[in-house]
Amino acid sequence: MFALKAFLPLAFLFTASSCLPALKERDDSTTCGSTNYTGDEVDAAASAACSYYQSGTTAGDSTYPHTYNDYEGFTFPVSGPYLEFPILSSGEVYSGGSPGPDRVVINTSCQLAGDITHTGASGNDFVGCSGTS
Ligand SMILES: *[C@@H]1O[C@H](CO)[C@@H](O)[C@H](O)[C@H]1NC(C)=O
Ligand SMILES: *[C@@H]1O[C@H](CO)[C@@H](O)[C@H](O)[C@H]1NC(C)=O
Repeated sequence: MFALKAFLPLAFLFTASSCLPALKERDDSTTCGSTNYTGDEVDAAASAACSYYQSGTTAGDSTYPHTYNDYEGFTFPVSGPYLEFPILSSGEVYSGGSPGPDRVVINTSCQLAGDITHTGASGNDFVGCSGTS
């Protein structure tokens, strides 16, 4: 009984402060080029990126998630360092192979920073998806 009472407040605290529920409280939907992503799709990509980062692994044979240096100078609402991870127009969570043009950006504390895309950018640069500038 004592153990249960002691555990419950801790469990609540952990749930309230962990990144995954926080991601779901906002509308994280975005449009990259002409591709619309639902908030759930963005959150799924960000969660996958977070899991790979925290376990020190990458998706399939890819290098993602990897460091995103923000050479473009986006003003993200969370501080870096940042990681980029593909988000796919197929609706599937990226697991290796061709990354396509679109990315979610998280920081290394797994907070969603924004969404960027090669669509409409020159060379290997990125432009912001809707909501990221
Ligand atoms: C994407 O979202 C925009 C803005 O909400 C909407 O005008 C457009 O029709 C949507 N496109 C698709 C392919 O669903
Ligand atoms: C990630 O963003 C959160 C929210 O802004 C911040 O509290 C945290 O310190 C950031 N993590 C890093 C590694 O900067």
